[in-house]
Amino acid sequence: MPETNETLKGEVRAFWDKSSCGEIYAQGEEPRSYYESHARTRYALEPVIPLFARFGEARDKDVLEIGVGMGADHIELAKAGPRGLTGVDLTPRAIEHVTRRLQVYGLNSRLQVADAEHLPFADESFDFVYSWGVLHHSPDTPQAIREVWRILRPGGKTRVMIYHKYSLVGYMLWLRYALMRGRPGRSLAEIYAQHLESPGTKAYSMAEARRMFGQFSQVEMRAELGFGDLLEGGVGQRHRGPLLSLAKRLWPRWFFKRFMKGHGLGLLVEAVK
Ligand SMILES: C[S@@+](CC[C@H](N)C(=O)[O-])C[C@H]1O[C@@H](n2cnc3c(N)ncnc32)[C@H](O)[C@@H]1O
Repeated sequence: MPETNETLKGEVRAFWDKSSCGEIYAQGEEPRSYYESHARTRYALEPVIPLFARFGEARDKDVLEIGVGMGADHIELAKAGPRGLTGVDLTPRAIEHVTRRLQVYGLNSRLQVADAEHLPFADESFDFVYSWGVLHHSPDTPQAIREVWRILRPGGKTRVMIYHKYSLVGYMLWLRYALMRGRPGRSLAEIYAQHLESPGTKAYSMAEARRMFGQFSQVEMRAELGFGDLLEGGVGQRHRGPLLSLAKRLWPRWFFKRFMKGHGLGLLVEAVK
């Protein structure tokens, strides 16, 4: 029987409720050092996040973050001094993390468990919507993007990272789970859905992403190589093996940075309603 949207969403929720994204980077018992170690490692591995997000622009705006996860970016949004800050995530675990994390810094946000595909907010209630690495995990990503458009005020802006189909991460997973298993006919879509993070994860070409953001008046996007594409940090926990260790040592990072810049997993989209 084909899996329904809601069944798959339950699996996505269960996946991220077992361990929020990036928990492996947090060290120590004491809350402040635990969350600070998480933020340090996150921004060292993904320096593009603050450059793309431009958290400072949240000042004096009504801001929503979708898929707060462990909340490193949510803290940066809160520090910027928004008029109002709201954060949602599909999992109670993420909301507990971010509640604790905000307390550590004496910052505030309205946090709640909610589904990106059915946001519990009125039309035109935000000036800025931010979401990093989230909407491709939701079974109906186009619906989640329609929700972003609905709740933004005219002229409001969104910055969203979704996964890019033609990425080094995708090619590596395809080599490992399609070619090396004698199943070269497996599509990249199938590989992402079964071997990258939560079940049913999707990745989009630029043309597909443009179509999904078609309602917006201005859209800019670019693909960016990340630590997964470059096999940096603790990447690949789930795919461990001698081949991965060898690839990490021999990976020609300079070559990919120079000649395959557009083959990153991160598709950074900035759009104006
Ligand atoms: C890869 S993590 C990213 C978290 C955070 N933005 C970060 O960069 O660390 C994906 C997050 O998206 C959340 N998520 C997945 N589907 C969602 C949905 N439909 N609505 C809200 N959050 C969702 C998950 O619970 C998880 O916390």
